[in-house]
Amino acid sequence: MEPIEDLDVLSEDEVRQREAGAGSDDEDLDRVEHGYEEAAGAKQVYIETYGCQMNVADSGVVASVLEDSGYGLTQDQDEADVVLLNTCAIRENAEQKIRTRLGMLRAEKEKRDGELMMGVLGCMAERLREKLLEQEDLVDVVVGPDAYRDLPRLLYEADSRKPSGQAAVNVELSKQETYEDIQPVRYDSNGVSAYVSIMRGCDNMCTFCVVPFTRGRESSRPVTTILSEVAQLAEEGYKEVTLLGQNVNSYHYTDDDTSVTFAELVDRVSRVSPEMRVRYSTSHPKDCTDALLKVHRDRPNVCNYIHLPVQHGNTEVLDRMRRTYTREEYLALIERGRELCPGVSFSTDIIAGFCGEAEEQHQDTLSLMREVRYDHAYMFKYSERPQTYAARKLEDDVPDDVKQRRLEEIIGLQNRHSKESNEEEIGRIHTVLVEGASKKSDEQLFGRTDTNKGVVFDREDYEQGDYVKVRIEDCTSSTLLGTALEKTTLEEAARTDSITAAPAAA
Ligand code: SAH
Ligand code: SF4
Ligand code: F3S
Repeated sequence: MEPIEDLDVLSEDEVRQREAGAGSDDEDLDRVEHGYEEAAGAKQVYIETYGCQMNVADSGVVASVLEDSGYGLTQDQDEADVVLLNTCAIRENAEQKIRTRLGMLRAEKEKRDGELMMGVLGCMAERLREKLLEQEDLVDVVVGPDAYRDLPRLLYEADSRKPSGQAAVNVELSKQETYEDIQPVRYDSNGVSAYVSIMRGCDNMCTFCVVPFTRGRESSRPVTTILSEVAQLAEEGYKEVTLLGQNVNSYHYTDDDTSVTFAELVDRVSRVSPEMRVRYSTSHPKDCTDALLKVHRDRPNVCNYIHLPVQHGNTEVLDRMRRTYTREEYLALIERGRELCPGVSFSTDIIAGFCGEAEEQHQDTLSLMREVRYDHAYMFKYSERPQTYAARKLEDDVPDDVKQRRLEEIIGLQNRHSKESNEEEIGRIHTVLVEGASKKSDEQLFGRTDTNKGVVFDREDYEQGDYVKVRIEDCTSSTLLGTALEKTTLEEAARTDSITAAPAAA
């Protein structure tokens, strides 16, 4: 069998062509007429989610589509008639994890004499398409991220083809599909914070990244449907929304009557309820505007936290990555953010060992980290992905042991910065939104500060969903430990914070 990495996959141009023709097959999916509901019967579906927050949000869409056509949802794999893996393809080890999992499910399917249906959804499905079936003959459906409305039909088809076992596949990408009308099922949510998808796809084509190939072109969801989803969440008692997209700050929705930028969208979302915190992920430095920074400054419920992936600290490497900013421009942006929003917290993503990275260039990443002093970072070893420009045109020439050592240096430095940044919090008072019990003890609660730092404190009479004023007493490199002072509201906290801040500002 062909090794997966050698598979012939689509080029950038082919992706564009496929998208040009996709999204137009408005096939009538009247489930009753087609008998999809009968196919569903009393079948129970178990969904397992890998990868980024977009996939978590998409699993909610999948659950909603399936529930609407008669399937039940279960959190217990042993009860399931259908197991769906919503997959990630961002790095080789993400795909390896799925292959290992499929191996385990193969045994489960054999134990049940083939009576378990299996689906691979998401980015790995999109990347490998039919090739996945050559590798994994136990898979019954392969569904890309823009084809989830078609799942009932695909499951029906795969089911009716049993026992011959030919799989049903839909991996068409669509510039139109934003699932704007689907209320996602939030079956694994804590009831306090929710993801709201605002756009899909990515047009950036960073040279290392597979996402533009697995998710297709960028498209923005209509603003009214976003606002009504947030309003509905507020009504259900949610206290925090995270607006999601691969590059949220290039959000731009236009129709005959409206033209809304990301800064305007965040502003409007923040006005749905004063008690709803607003976050977003992920933002690209090239689109982080003054207008957006001012929304952070002016709207008390827009969190003082920005995830701003830098990827690298050397301009030449950034250029090879096609990130479209220089080291100096990035640093100027951080400075501008701190000037407009004092106390703003930054986190980042960093890649170690990209093609052609010289030792001094790696040192530039470390020195940039020292200049910025991120509160948190996600750090990765470069992993070559088929189809990408880097895989086709650049040489993955940093030996693995060197990549590993550089990554460890980056992680070591970040751990020091995280610890020091947490130590500076000792003695401060934060407004913490309680997400639930802490991992270690039911007697303690876990929540987050406005700046996205995790805090643990004694439960007393406080509850999930409360805003609590907490004084920070101690910390580890990842968590703050505090004492609860009193319950509060976001509006109240904003008022008292501005009173406390006033003398310093004067
Ligand atoms: N859209 C987001 C990132 C999505 S992927 C953004 O642009 O910020 C999340 C992170 O995975 C990236 O920021 C990058 O740091 C990392 N990543 C992406 N492709 C990678 C690769 N081929 N090897 C290693 N890390 C990668
Ligand atoms: Fe990938 Fe770059 Fe798009 Fe992020 S902005 S998803 S890193 S191509
Ligand atoms: Fe992975 Fe796809 Fe997200 S590749 S990181 S699940 S967009």
